[in-house]
Amino acid sequence: MPKIIVAIDGYSSCGKSTTAKLVAKQLNYPYIDTGAMYRAVTLHFIQNHISLTNQKEIETALNNIQITFRRHGEKGRNDTFLNGLNVEDEIRKMYVSERVSDVSAIADVRHALVAQQQRMGRTKGIVMDGRDIGTVVFPEAELKIFMTADPLIRAQRRQIELMEKGEIIGIEEISENLKTRDYIDTHRAESPLRQAEDAIYIDNSMMTLDEQVELVVRLADKQIALAHRRKKEQAQHG
Ligand code: DC
Repeated sequence: MPKIIVAIDGYSSCGKSTTAKLVAKQLNYPYIDTGAMYRAVTLHFIQNHISLTNQKEIETALNNIQITFRRHGEKGRNDTFLNGLNVEDEIRKMYVSERVSDVSAIADVRHALVAQQQRMGRTKGIVMDGRDIGTVVFPEAELKIFMTADPLIRAQRRQIELMEKGEIIGIEEISENLKTRDYIDTHRAESPLRQAEDAIYIDNSMMTLDEQVELVVRLADKQIALAHRRKKEQAQHG
């Protein structure tokens, strides 16, 4: 069967990554969490005191960053590595969340990461989630999803996620962080978050995780079948 690109975009903490990871597992495709890439760059910038207004410093720092992923474990846990070091837990912490939207609004940062993401999807057969996957990284993706959920539900989900990692944060602080990130992500000059014209809109506020995964897999299967049919027709017509 031909391979397709599944692009999942949407707001922070709307369940994109959890859904994307499980969809990738079912399709037997690799999963790329592009938010984790922006978070890893942010962590590097924080640790190395990179000034967000000094272009030279940013360029040098970007040349010294290598981000990789490793999947392991029963649940298909996907860990992010920054220059060979597992930073999966660190990049999810609040101090990184507070800075990541500013770092990801920098044009040089976006160009470097988008180029790497496009290399990762060169041979298709990939599930990628983020903010600009269907609009900038893979505008030709066969399946584009734009996912959202009610802001309070998103904040509650994020609070549980942080709690599981040992960080106890109040719902107001989380809501404020999500609101600020939504604003920066949708208003930045460089590839802001927006729904691609051909993306399918899914509000998952009232859906279970299983229902979301099933829906996206069903849509992906449809696109795979369509690509298969097109390929056969092309072969028949020379
Ligand atoms: O998906 P996330 O919340 O882990 O993403 C962290 C931040 O990274 C988010 O606030 C915006 C940014 N981001 C982006 O600008 N473009 C992407 N493709 C993915 C994430």
